[in-house]
Amino acid sequence: MELKTATLANIEEILALHYRYQVDSISEDDKADGFITTAFTKEHLTNLIQHENGLFTASVDNKIVAYAMAASWDYWSQWPMFEFMIKHLDDSTCLGQSITKDNSYQYGPVCVDKSVRGQGVFEKIFNYSLSEMSKRYPIMVTFINKINPRSYEAHTRKTPLTVIKHFEFNNNHYYKLACKTAE
Ligand SMILES: CC(C)(COP(=O)(O)OP(=O)(O)OC[C@H]1O[C@@H](n2cnc3c(N)ncnc32)[C@H](O)[C@@H]1OP(=O)(O)O)[C@@H](O)C(=O)NCCC(=O)NCCS
Repeated sequence: MELKTATLANIEEILALHYRYQVDSISEDDKADGFITTAFTKEHLTNLIQHENGLFTASVDNKIVAYAMAASWDYWSQWPMFEFMIKHLDDSTCLGQSITKDNSYQYGPVCVDKSVRGQGVFEKIFNYSLSEMSKRYPIMVTFINKINPRSYEAHTRKTPLTVIKHFEFNNNHYYKLACKTAE
């Protein structure tokens, strides 16, 4: 398996993977194993790559089987949900350290194709994105919808993330999680 930081040439393949598991286009059968809410466009991913260097991929036999996104809060602020998270960044801490717009970034969504789930691809792409982003930020922040138990299990048991807050936005219930990016 090959882990990489995505380039513009990868966008089409990543969008195809994304829309297999995006809430508006995912098959009913796949929904129980989690879905992604945000409908990313080519333009969103272009900005993510060019301005944030924040799109990571895992490939098997030259085929992209997983992606993970990570970016500054400024990037994410184009969506209301993240505006809300930015406004409330100071409502919790990470191992006693204050969380600010400058010392933290938002990781996610992450998506692993169902053909390779449960095979360690999730941990590998998570750790790769963490290690790349640790060069720029000391704290990772993310959120998980409470109706996505598979994502919750994966992130709380297979990564250093811990739940630091519970919150509600637009009638959805979320966990907020954080971890330090280095020891
Ligand atoms: C969430 C996701 C990235 C996790 O990757 P993965 O390869 O499936 O993760 P794993 O299988 O290694 O770990 C998930 C764990 O949850 C368990 N699990 C599976 N379904 C579950 C459920 N409905 N409830 C509770 N636990 C569940 C699995 O058994 C596994 O634990 P185990 O390894 O101890 O058996 C992947 O499932 C995915 O891309 N889902 C669709 C998109 C998504 O939801 N992304 C996250 C939100 S942005």
